[in-house]
Amino acid sequence: MEALIKELVEIDGPSGEEAAVRELIRERIEQSVDRTFTDNLGNLFALREGPAPLLLFSAHMDEIGVIVTHIDDHGFLRIAPVGGVRPHLLLGQRLRFKDGLLGTVYHEKIKDLKELDWSKLYLDIGAADGETARKHLRIGDMACLHQPFVNLGRRYLAKAMDDRSGCAVLIEAARRLPRSLPQGVCFLFSVQEEVGLRGATTAAYRLEPAYGFAVDVTSVGDTPEAPLMAVALGKGPAIKVKDRSVICHPRVRDLMIATAEQEKIPYQLEVLELGGTDAGAIHLSRGGVPSGALSIPCRYVHAPSEMIDAGDLRHAVTLIEKLASRAWPLPEKEI
Ligand code: CO
Ligand code: ZN
Repeated sequence: MEALIKELVEIDGPSGEEAAVRELIRERIEQSVDRTFTDNLGNLFALREGPAPLLLFSAHMDEIGVIVTHIDDHGFLRIAPVGGVRPHLLLGQRLRFKDGLLGTVYHEKIKDLKELDWSKLYLDIGAADGETARKHLRIGDMACLHQPFVNLGRRYLAKAMDDRSGCAVLIEAARRLPRSLPQGVCFLFSVQEEVGLRGATTAAYRLEPAYGFAVDVTSVGDTPEAPLMAVALGKGPAIKVKDRSVICHPRVRDLMIATAEQEKIPYQLEVLELGGTDAGAIHLSRGGVPSGALSIPCRYVHAPSEMIDAGDLRHAVTLIEKLASRAWPLPEKEI
């Protein structure tokens, strides 16, 4: 699992440019499913065929990043966020473009850090002048944080744990599924979650699942003077009750809780006041899809180093495996 996470977080996939991540995931999951396919937006579907009702498990492939908006004659670049990036977290960071080109972020003269916004930030790729910079980069090129994966013992540190850790959970759960399943299961690796749940929107429409589940990271309240939140690292994956994008279907949520308890998997309950997940798009598809979400507790979400707990990850895999292999009622009946 550690090796899988490491390879997943160390490649780049800003929203809209998920191809490298998609091809790696396809290689890693192919043997565990009946077939894989993609759609026009770049979503990757990995399907285990089976009778109705179809279960959809979604983790997003994309990560936050920046996009080049301007190149000046001295070779300095201006950038804008792709997804929820806060400018102060980029100061001094290294960013990497698709072809491997690196640069560092710094700021113009400011009196106070409070003045720091995107207009004060620039990216320096070491180009002698604008002409040289333009040979390598164009307006619209995207870059991601450049940070290695680190194993801290019980915990892992890396960029893009949001949501490659969720991708790893689905890949690992798919490997462990029994040969025969009571119903069909589709693992979705979605695109463009960070810019508005866009991949999950079209994927859910296409698949018409009976039930939807997102697997993503969530914030925690266990760090110094953190906003009050009843989720901590190391206490098990969090069964989502609500975030800004979805109120999880109470009976899906209760079946998730019952499964965790039957299997003696530690879990927490999550109310996330800011942020959303793919479940926000899936549950609004067509006539509505009863949906839930399993969250991996994560410190410093959208910062250059996001921290997760190895035990939470292991338990998340087991819970997804059990949810995918238990029998779910047909949605026409009361669930
Ligand atoms: Co995110
Ligand atoms: Zn996410």
